[in-house]
Amino acid sequence: MKTRILLLLVVSLSFTLGVSAQTIVGSKHDFSTSSWNTSGEICKVCHVPHGGSSLPSAPLWSHVLSTAVYTVYSSPTTNAGTPAGTIGQPSASTKLCLSCHDNTVAVGGTTFIGTLGTPVGYANVGTDLSNDHPVSFTYDAALVTLDAGLKPVTSPSGIGSGTIASTMLFAGKMECASCHDVHNSAGFQHLLNKSNAASALCLTCHAK
Ligand code: HEC
Ligand code: HEC
Ligand code: HEC
Ligand code: HEC
Repeated sequence: MKTRILLLLVVSLSFTLGVSAQTIVGSKHDFSTSSWNTSGEICKVCHVPHGGSSLPSAPLWSHVLSTAVYTVYSSPTTNAGTPAGTIGQPSASTKLCLSCHDNTVAVGGTTFIGTLGTPVGYANVGTDLSNDHPVSFTYDAALVTLDAGLKPVTSPSGIGSGTIASTMLFAGKMECASCHDVHNSAGFQHLLNKSNAASALCLTCHAK
């Protein structure tokens, strides 16, 4: 009897794990089987335990960084940036994403693995970020005062029991990782960090 219950538990547990693959394994960021990846490892394409990049906010980074200068987002109603309305060049972890997604460095462009592979089609964000959601700017109470259509950063984010500030901002800033989860831990489509069904992601920050 005991073994049967245990077996049932094991079976239901593996079933649960099987239906909700909430890890990087098998995601679009699992390059372990790519032809250029001579290491066959997952993490190594982006991180190394020793000798990684010393860029601030690059967690043991192994990928070659892009040196591109970007065309950034601007609009007559932008309040974000310093001075207000002026979005600066991408910084922090956004630079890490762009080390592959701007298509100037090979996906396998690490000092440790290969030098091949390009982000094709939709994954090629390019160096023109003027048609992409603005990133790398501070989102704080002062910005909310300028833009009444923004929710306070103390509002719940719907990610665990956290707030926008605690779960979506990095050193107080919006980055690509404010909306995306590079490791697919959340398991949502497009590597999003929460579902965007009925625009739930957008409505987290925008009071529209
Ligand atoms: C495609 C690139 C990529 C791969 C592959 C990748 N990471 Fe990351 N990782 C990032 C980026 C970008 C950040 C910084 C942005 C962030 O924290 O979301 C990061 C942040 C981290 C951090 C610090 C922040 C945190 O989430 O705790 C840890 C730890 C980490 N990664 C571990 C891993 C491990 C372990 C693997 C392999 C199983 C892995 N990563 C695979 C890109 C990657
Ligand atoms: C090592 C290179 C590399 C890094 C670093 C990297 N990506 Fe990617 N990413 C890719 C490639 C290549 C694809 C397309 C894979 C495919 O289509 O098979 C991709 C796909 C994606 C997708 C589409 C996922 C889907 O399911 O359609 C998103 C979203 C994404 N990346 C966001 C990010 C963000 C955000 C970061 C930084 C936090 C990041 N990536 C860092 C190489 C990278
Ligand atoms: C404000 C939220 C937000 C930010 C910030 C953001 N993205 Fe996205 N991204 C999304 C959403 C939502 C999608 C799903 C596409 C759709 O619904 O049309 C997406 C899709 C993507 C895709 C896949 C495109 C496709 O058609 O499947 C890639 C690659 C990507 N983002 C990379 C990035 C990179 C790199 C950055 C930073 C430069 C970034 N994103 C910043 C919300 C965001
Ligand atoms: C984590 C918070 C956050 C999320 C999630 C988010 N945004 Fe934003 N968004 C902002 C902030 C902050 C600004 C800068 C507002 C400003 O400059 O006044 C902004 C700017 C914009 C702008 C440009 C506004 C202008 O005046 O030019 C648009 C459009 C926009 N967001 C749409 C979206 C959409 C659509 C989504 C969902 C796919 C989304 N946002 C998700 C925080 C967010």
